[in-house]
Amino acid sequence: MKTAFVDLAYILSAVLFILGLKRMQSPVTARTGNGLASLGMLVAIVATLFLHEILSWPMILGGLVLGGAIGVVLARTVEMTAMPELVAVFNGFGGLASALVAGAELSQYVGEARLVDAPGFGIISAVTIALSILIGTVTFSGSVVANGKLSGWITGNPISFPGLRVLTGLLLVAAGVAFGVMIATANVFPGTPQTMIRAALGLGAAALLLGILLVIPIGGADMPVVVSLLNSYSGLAAAAAGFVLDNTALIVSGTLVGAAGMILTVLMCEAMNRSLANVMLGGFGGGDGPAAGLDVPEGKTVNETSPEDTAILARYAEKVVIAPGYGLAVAQAQHEVRELADQLEAQGVEVKYAIHPVAGRMPGHMNVLLAEADVSYEKLHELEEINPEFPTTDLAIVVGANDVVNPAAREDEGSPIYGMPILNVDEAQTVVMIKRSLSPGYSGVPNELFYANNTKMLFSDAKEAVAEIADAVKEMEEA
Ligand code: TAP
Repeated sequence: MKTAFVDLAYILSAVLFILGLKRMQSPVTARTGNGLASLGMLVAIVATLFLHEILSWPMILGGLVLGGAIGVVLARTVEMTAMPELVAVFNGFGGLASALVAGAELSQYVGEARLVDAPGFGIISAVTIALSILIGTVTFSGSVVANGKLSGWITGNPISFPGLRVLTGLLLVAAGVAFGVMIATANVFPGTPQTMIRAALGLGAAALLLGILLVIPIGGADMPVVVSLLNSYSGLAAAAAGFVLDNTALIVSGTLVGAAGMILTVLMCEAMNRSLANVMLGGFGGGDGPAAGLDVPEGKTVNETSPEDTAILARYAEKVVIAPGYGLAVAQAQHEVRELADQLEAQGVEVKYAIHPVAGRMPGHMNVLLAEADVSYEKLHELEEINPEFPTTDLAIVVGANDVVNPAAREDEGSPIYGMPILNVDEAQTVVMIKRSLSPGYSGVPNELFYANNTKMLFSDAKEAVAEIADAVKEMEEA
């Protein structure tokens, strides 16, 4: 009877996870999606703990209250821009939990003389325990390094040293040997639990170092892709732990996280027009250094503009499209951008936002920042939707974006970003680019848009420039 209840609860939680994921397809429904998925997890946890009678009631309630309180405080206090760091921490703990669960399961058999005689222990148990330890520990140490690179306590520049690849290869071999010993101890050459525990400790140690060595050579700016991949790994580790414990809810939720994380990773790589291998082999994109202020190349000219002149262009335009990028996040200019849009709309100007899928440094970065400034979702237009509108746009204002509007991605076959879909702002009648200098963006690829006839460069911090444009528009109305 109890098992039937648990199974029913697990089916309910699986349905809630799937519905939750489905609703995350759009920012409008994502909030309720998150709620549904959380509810699914609560149902699964409560069913497992209460009906399996694993712990006493005070322990269960204490854990729920403590864990829930930590979650609420983190969710309320974390800055939107620090979300990848927080996700890295969650992934790391998820991986560590899976590895610890596998270790605890193994430790139950310490008293047995030979593992092969232990009731309920077979080759499948050995494989799933070994997988949980391997994937869980790589996820843990990799996530700690990813958090360090994102938070700045580890340099964002790729870290490498002679022999790094060889050492990584040797560790892979060591992990493979330890894995093999664990399987053999369970079945082929039945051994004592102690042998398997030693092999498991060896596997854990190799995996711990592997996680570190795999992530340190990757530049800080690529960390969102790494965090997404580690998220997928944490799901796989949880699914393996689900097999260890024979827990359906853990298998289902782990598999969903594993698949969703992998899909997001692939989508991010596609939007950057890079392969996952290219990201993982590292060396691309270091820390985000200060503006370099490069000189104008010979034979090219830059048309400079001012906030006041931009205000005149914007005020008398029929349609203005704002293309935000990483610089908007650095300057935290989202509120000023919204203020400017409000001013223009009040004067009858149509204002739209062009959102590139990898603008900024994390998935949905621009959506999150603009939502924080209460810009409604209907005004945010994705690349495929907004690109056909640029030829009929009077003014495109590029706020701290660079790579995502670089025509080299469309035209220069030799360019490292060739093939990356871009926002075709250059097709607008006039483009105003707000950035502090002529330095390239994340990819390091020079941008011909700076020198185009219809481009005007507004060299300034994005927040200051946009605020000044908005002030000038206001003054025009008051005059
Ligand atoms: P970027 O190409 O990195 O360009 C951002 C520009 O912002 C820089 O050229 C910089 O120029 C300017 N900037 C910086 N601080 C500023 C400030 N305070 N005020 C005004 N401008 C400022 O950004 P993007 O166009 O958003 O493209 C994103 C890049 O990141 C793509 O290459 C993408 O592949 C990569 N990436 C994205 C993600 C995700 S998931 N979004 C993950 C990893 C990598 P100045 O220094 O001259 O001001």
